[in-house]
Amino acid sequence: MEGSELQTQSRKGKMAVIYSAKGGVGKTSLAVNLAIALHKKKLQVALMDGDFQFGDVNVAMDIGSSFSITDAADSIDKLDTYRLNHLLSKHSSGVHVLSAPESPELADLITTAIISKVCETILKEYDYLIVDSGVGLNDQTLSFMEIADEILLMTTLELISIKNTKRLLKVFETLEMRNKVKVVLNRSTMESVIEASQVPEILGVDHLYSIPNNFSVASKSLNLGIPFVTGKPSSDIAKAVFKIAANLDSNEQLLEERKKQPLLDKLFSLKRKKGGNSVGIIRKDERKI
Ligand SMILES: Nc1ncnc2c1ncn2[C@@H]1O[C@H](COP(=O)(O)OP(=O)(O)OP(=O)(O)O)[C@@H](O)[C@H]1O
Ligand SMILES: [Mg+2]
Repeated sequence: MEGSELQTQSRKGKMAVIYSAKGGVGKTSLAVNLAIALHKKKLQVALMDGDFQFGDVNVAMDIGSSFSITDAADSIDKLDTYRLNHLLSKHSSGVHVLSAPESPELADLITTAIISKVCETILKEYDYLIVDSGVGLNDQTLSFMEIADEILLMTTLELISIKNTKRLLKVFETLEMRNKVKVVLNRSTMESVIEASQVPEILGVDHLYSIPNNFSVASKSLNLGIPFVTGKPSSDIAKAVFKIAANLDSNEQLLEERKKQPLLDKLFSLKRKKGGNSVGIIRKDERKI
C-alpha cells in the first residue's frame, strides 16, 4: 500500500487550505472566522498559521506568546498527537491554534516533510484543520495544497487579483488538483471595473462563495483580535462565513487521490508547453489582459 494511502486512511479529519494569488485579499480573516464557525457546529477544529514568514493569526485572535510550528519542527521525529496538543494554543472560541514561527527567518526551517507530519498528526485527532496559507507557489504552499481535501482560492474583484486567480486555476488544472479548488470572492460588493456577476464566467467556474464588502467590521475585528463571527455574528460578512462553514461540513466528497508526479515537476512541464501570459479576461473597456 502507498504511504499516502496509509496516511489518508488514518485520517479522522478534513483539511481546507485558504490560498490566494495575491496578498491582502482576506485569507487570514476567512481562516480565523471559518475555523470558529466550524467549531460552532460542534466540530473539533485546529487552525494552522501557514504563512510562516509573516503570519498574523495570533494578532487576529489576540493570542499571546505561544509555542509555534518551530517547536514541532524541533522534535519532529518524536511528534505525536500528545506532544502536538501541548503546542496548540487553546483560543477562547474553542479553536486550537498552531502559530507561525516567531520570526520570518525561521520560516525556511519548515520543510515539506515537517508540514506533512504536522498536518497528518493534527488530522488524526481533529475533525477539521484550516490552514491560513502564505502566498506564492513554492514547496511549502504546494505541500499544504497537496495534503488538503479542499483549496479555498480567494480573490477580490480587483483586476489583478482576478487575472492571477485565473492563472492559478490553470496551474491547478495541470497539477490535477482543480477539482478540489473552490473560489471565494471576497469583498464581492466592492466597486470595481469587474462586477461580481461576471466572475464565474471569467474564471470558468460554476459556483463560488461570496463574502460582501464590510471594511468597518472586518478591519475592527482584525485590529481588536475579536473575530467577527464571535463579535458581530449577525453582520453580513459573518453570515457569509457561516454559509461557507455549512457547505464545507456537508461536503462528503472531499478526499482526493494523491498524484504521484511531484507538483513542481508538473508545473515545469506546464511552463515548457505554454508561452505568453494572456489569460483572456476582457474588461468593461474591452481590452484583453
Ligand atoms: N469582507 C471584507 N470586507 C472588507 N474588508 C475586508 C474583508 N475581508 C478582509 N478585509 C480587510 O482586508 C485586509 C486584509 O485582510 P487579511 O489580513 O485577512 O488578508 P490576507 O490575505 O490574510 O493578507 P496577507 O496576504 O497580508 O496575509 C484587512 O484590512 C481586512 O480588514
Ligand atoms: Mg494573512
